[in-house]
Amino acid sequence: MNNKILEIRNLKREFIMGSETVRALKGVSFDIGAGEFVTIMGSSGSGKTTMLNILGCLDKPTDGEYILDGNNIKSLNKNELARLRNRKIGFVFQSYNLLPRTSALENVELPLLYNSGISARQRHEKALWALESVKLADRLHHTPSQLSGGQQQRVAIARALVNEPVMLLADEATGNLDSRTSYEIMALMQDLNTSQGKTIIFVTHEPDIASFSSRTVMLRDGKVVKDFKNENKRSAKEVLDSIPVSDDY
Ligand SMILES: Nc1ncnc2c1ncn2[C@@H]1O[C@H](COP(=O)(O)OP(=O)(O)OP(=O)(O)O)[C@@H](O)[C@H]1O
Ligand SMILES: [Mg+2]
Repeated sequence: MNNKILEIRNLKREFIMGSETVRALKGVSFDIGAGEFVTIMGSSGSGKTTMLNILGCLDKPTDGEYILDGNNIKSLNKNELARLRNRKIGFVFQSYNLLPRTSALENVELPLLYNSGISARQRHEKALWALESVKLADRLHHTPSQLSGGQQQRVAIARALVNEPVMLLADEATGNLDSRTSYEIMALMQDLNTSQGKTIIFVTHEPDIASFSSRTVMLRDGKVVKDFKNENKRSAKEVLDSIPVSDDY
């Protein structure tokens, strides 16, 4: 692996709950190369979200090293960490986390409001570009309740892309969607990975979804139990093309 985007070494995360200590991550190590598309799998409670939150700089490990694009996150203060997160990382969640009663366009502009160097006009242009790249240019003024689940998730992906991050982190991003819509989201992820070169880390517990990535890291009880390349990576677009539109998937 020549161009590492992140390295973690013996990462641990413990939560103190009264007199009890929950050991959510028990020493996890791996590297991810720039441009990889990795799925993180594992059963409920295995530590997937805990790990993704650390990789996304939303949380810090109790112990171990995390080097993100050459920055050792241990050495950063809260503001530096927030800046690194804002520049490098886009987050996509299972429940979309869009503002209600706010248009798709405004939802996507939101992360840019924190950047005082960007004018209102640039904000608008960048948000338009992001919505076009998720093929939602015809839904700019729809609010979340006027969009389907899959469309809402695409707005959330546009919002994650608008700062042009190097890495997209997704936590069960297809968890609320039917199969067909899930495949559409995976086709979009594969396209962002190949055409924009985004590094993607995608948490899922569905093997079907993991088959669209090029590598799978499997967690069990806070530890990596498998880490393998997917020899038979599928194309989500081909899968979609093979499903008749009328089928109730
Ligand atoms: N803030 C917290 N405080 C205490 N314990 C926590 C906290 N967050 C997670 N845990 C515990 O850490 C373990 C791992 O949780 P995590 O949310 O990472 O699992 P997960 O693999 O994402 O599961 P799921 O598939 O259900 O989303 C669980 O035992 C959980 O109870
Ligand atoms: Mg989780």
